Order: sequence, then structure tokens, then C-alpha cells
Amino acid sequence: MSNLLAGKKGIIFGALDQQSIAWKVAERCVQEGAQIVLTNAPVAMRMGEINKLAEQCNAPVFPADATSIEDLENLLRKSMEHFGGKVDFVLHSIGMSVNVRKSKSYTDLNYEWMQKTFDVSAISFHKLMQTMWKLDAITDWGSIIALTYIAAQRVFPDYSEMAESKALLESFARSFGYHYGTAKNVRVNTVSQSPTMTTAGKGVKGFTDFYGYADKMSPLGNAPAEDCANYCVALFSDLTRYVTMQNLYHDGGFSTMGMNPALLQVEEGE
Ligand code: NAI
Repeated sequence: MSNLLAGKKGIIFGALDQQSIAWKVAERCVQEGAQIVLTNAPVAMRMGEINKLAEQCNAPVFPADATSIEDLENLLRKSMEHFGGKVDFVLHSIGMSVNVRKSKSYTDLNYEWMQKTFDVSAISFHKLMQTMWKLDAITDWGSIIALTYIAAQRVFPDYSEMAESKALLESFARSFGYHYGTAKNVRVNTVSQSPTMTTAGKGVKGFTDFYGYADKMSPLGNAPAEDCANYCVALFSDLTRYVTMQNLYHDGGFSTMGMNPALLQVEEGE
């Protein structure tokens, strides 16, 4: 343990339970000396798990539906009041597809549900940054990260409309990264994480088989959530001040592979 985030203040979205990637990020940020605020959708509060993390991290929990501007304003105001100033970093770790949840096939999607999916999984990121912008809520040289998945670039059929959500999310990071970089030297990046056993991950059909496939395809194996947290800490720290508008793969090498012999199950002699 070092002190990479000493004196920094951040907001972490999306810690639902101990499996959540955001949960690990919150723990690591605090270990590195940061002060944090935790937030999640009001419905997610009902599980009550987040309160355990809050206690452990000595952090307040301010509920906010990330699709509601009013909730986001409230969250940011309360966070700045709590910190006595602006925030230095933010993690957007939010994803949900209505069509996937309701097992709709990609060739029979419900468009109202699709709008909801885009709103929760991608537009919420723009809403968050725009609200921060208007409230002047982030310090100069601050750092914003959203978590994404390689289905934005390649086809993973069971990921359905989440693929387009992630493409939109990554594009918002680039476009807002321009404005925030120019105005305040704030960096905006997306981290494209390996398949990870979480509530959102396991919601995708065939996830367990796919998890094994990605693990074998990647020379380093799937990147664990704890290591994703380490990567996020590095990106929140002052060691990465000129990294912005990037989609950064944290995937054990998966994104560069074409074929891995480890996946060929050819018996000897065949
Ligand atoms: P998770 O299920 O633990 O986290 C998703 C979070 O989104 C939950 O905390 C949920 O309450 C929150 N959320 C949903 N609707 C919301 C709303 N309206 N307002 C505020 N929060 C809302 O799962 P996980 O895997 O930790 O997901 C975090 C991020 O990582 C997501 O963006 C996901 O797409 C991404 N990711 C996950 C991978 C995986 O295999 N698990 C792989 C690559 C990226």
C-alpha cells in the first residue's frame, strides 16, 4: 500500500455488493488515502449492502438515480458540502439492459426498453459530466472514469443492446474529454474491463462459459476486479495526468488476440 491518492476526494457510483467492481475501487481508493462518497440508485439501497462498505470506508452514502438531473445535482451539492470543496475524481460504474433482463432477442428488441438502457448505461455519463460542469464540481487536473466492455468494438451476440450502450458511453468520454480538457485539464477515460463475476456480468446469457473462453484467450487470463481497482487508482492519481479521451483495455491481452492455441481442443494424433 502506498499513498497515491492522499488528499484526494472522489465519488464512486455503482457499488451494489462485494462482487461489484465499484466496491473494490472504493476500497482501494480509501487504502490509497482518498476520501470518498458512495452513491447508487435508490432501489439498490434496499439491499443494504452498501452500508457495510460505507462503514468500512468511513464514507457517506448519497442515493442518486444517475438518469435524474435533480438527483445528480443533489448528490454533487451534498458531496461538495461534505468534502468542503470540489471533487478530484469520479467513477461511473453503472450498467443495465432492460431487453437483456427480459430475455428479448437482438432481432426483436423493444425500443422503449432500449431507450431506458441507453439512458441508464450511457446517457447517465453525459448527464453526470454536464451536471458537474454546470456546478463546477471538479478540480483542475481531476480525473473521470467510466467502465466499459469490448462489445463496443467487436460483436458479442449475447451482450445485445449493451454493445451500443458502451459505444455511446465511450464516445461521450472522448467528446466531453475535449471540453473538460480544454477548460480545466480534467481527463476523461473509459476502462474496458475483462468479464467479471458480478450481478451485472452474470445477467448476460451464457456468461459463465464466456468467462472461461475469455480467460483462455487472454495470455494473462481475465483481469480480476481487484486489479481493475488498481488501474482506476492509477488513473485517478497524479501519475497519469496526460492520459485522456482514451478507451483503455484492462483485459489481460484479450483485445489484441486473434487466436489462442489454448482454446483449440484438438486431440493429439488427429
Ligand atoms: P454491478 O451489478 O455490481 O454494478 C452495476 C451497478 O449499476 C449497480 O450498483 C446498480 O445499482 C447500478 N445502477 C443501475 N441502474 C442505476 C441507476 N439508474 N442509477 C445509478 N446506478 C444504477 O456490476 P459490475 O459488473 O460491477 O458493473 C459495473 C460496470 O462495469 C458496468 O458499467 C458494467 O457494464 C461494467 N463492466 C462489467 C463487466 C463484467 O463482466 N461484470 C465487464 C466490463 C465492464
